[in-house]
Amino acid sequence: MPRESKRPFQTFTDPTIPSEIDPSRIPTHVACVMDGNGRWANARGLPRTDGHAAGEEALVDCVDGALELGVSWLTLYAFSTENWKRPVDEVRFLMGFNEGLLMRRRDELNEKGVRIQFAGRRDWRVPKRVLKRMDEATELTKNNRRLTLTMAFNYGGRAEIVDAVKAMVADGVSASKVSEQQIRNYLYHPEMPDPDLVVRTSGEYRISNFLLWQIAYSELTFPEVLWPDFRRADLYQAVLEYQQRERRYGGLET
Ligand code: IPE
Ligand code: IPE
Ligand code: MG
Repeated sequence: MPRESKRPFQTFTDPTIPSEIDPSRIPTHVACVMDGNGRWANARGLPRTDGHAAGEEALVDCVDGALELGVSWLTLYAFSTENWKRPVDEVRFLMGFNEGLLMRRRDELNEKGVRIQFAGRRDWRVPKRVLKRMDEATELTKNNRRLTLTMAFNYGGRAEIVDAVKAMVADGVSASKVSEQQIRNYLYHPEMPDPDLVVRTSGEYRISNFLLWQIAYSELTFPEVLWPDFRRADLYQAVLEYQQRERRYGGLET
């Protein structure tokens, strides 16, 4: 069958999207572990926090790339439940940085049709003013439908499962009613489809407690690029790699 017949509806408007990408097989949900900021800064003799700041441009370009491709869900890991172990100054910087990022970027994201939401624990360690900005960004963008951008912030996959189990117990869910579907109902965003593609930058080959329940059958890619250098072209490469995989979900190829 000629290739063109598979793409009757869509052509991309971004000419930098590789022609090998099949528009009929774009991942619905892409999730990224934005890693390597500290190493990027170290390599330049800069403080680690400069690496986090430089990651903002990568984040915005990644969102733009996802919009160009027609990805519907993009989840970005911004701060893990384990990142509190870092020096207090770095943690403080990251809180302020994420707060500032929301204030700087929420209007342009809103104009692009991005719905912003958060996944993670809203516990006492997250400063109130940061929670306030998170709520404002969520409220501002809640009616957008083009792309849902989920910021995993004070997020841990194990913490999410613990929170789900606690909520189930509190609701009196009986053992006979516990099922995979029921557990999903108690995750932070039950309506969020599982990631099709996970991208972890910086050449670290691990998951670091990201979306443990949801990635059961995700395709994983590990580009070497450090997050501050990540651009939409890297996202396009990851999608190409994804399209070369064969997803079987435990079954046999069809
Ligand atoms: C990722 O970059 C950002 C966060 C974890 C907040 P890192 O800060 O982990 O950078 P590396 O891994 O030390 O290079
Ligand atoms: C994962 O990166 C968390 C985020 C990117 C927010 P880390 O740098 O914290 O992970 P490890 O410590 O290398 O596993
Ligand atoms: Mg790291």
